[in-house]
Amino acid sequence: MKIKESIPSDLSKVLQVERQAFGDDQGPEIVDLVKGLLSDPSARPLLSLLAEDNGRALGHILFTRAQITNFIDSVSAVILAPLAVIPERQSRGIGGRLIKEGLRRLSASGVELVFVLGHPEYYPRHGFKPAGELGFEATYPIPDEHADAWMVQALQPGVIGKVSGKLFVPMR
Ligand SMILES: CC(C)(COP(=O)(O)OP(=O)(O)OC[C@H]1O[C@@H](n2cnc3c(N)ncnc32)[C@H](O)[C@@H]1OP(=O)(O)O)[C@@H](O)C(=O)NCCC(=O)NCCS
Repeated sequence: MKIKESIPSDLSKVLQVERQAFGDDQGPEIVDLVKGLLSDPSARPLLSLLAEDNGRALGHILFTRAQITNFIDSVSAVILAPLAVIPERQSRGIGGRLIKEGLRRLSASGVELVFVLGHPEYYPRHGFKPAGELGFEATYPIPDEHADAWMVQALQPGVIGKVSGKLFVPMR
């Protein structure tokens, strides 16, 4: 299996992975979200990685640009969403490899903070920590019982503790 940056001609593969991973319930909404983000200039710079085996798409991860109030344009932040692995290849480490490779590339390009709203049992395995208690408010209010789903990871030293505020996405 190899992980590569997706290119515009990969779009149908990317959307197929999303549709399969999220199923009939959430799939259509996620497909629209991904299509929109990939074509939205304000989501850039973005990172879209595709996991492939012999040309067959198995997984996809997307990171898009975000801003933090009080630190607009002075802190480089992204949101991880969505992460998807096709059902027949789940639980074989593909999701983890996509996260790891994404974080490696983002770190190398100077991104400081990565946020995710996701499964609180899954993302801490890959270095994410509860974001609320570190001073980061989510874009939309999160019910108390799901507070631990809002997570962050610093990719550069000295950012956590110095930066705090509310996340927002540039005009979309
Ligand atoms: C979540 C998802 C991306 C994980 O990818 P993956 O390749 O299956 O995950 P990995 O192989 O890296 O990790 C597997 C481990 O994560 C756990 N895991 C997978 N999905 C999980 C979930 N929703 N909540 C908690 N743990 C989960 C598995 O139980 C497994 O644990 P184990 O190692 O103890 O057996 C994949 O299951 C998926 O596409 N799910 C549907 C879409 C989705 O929910 N996306 C995430 C949105 S936040």
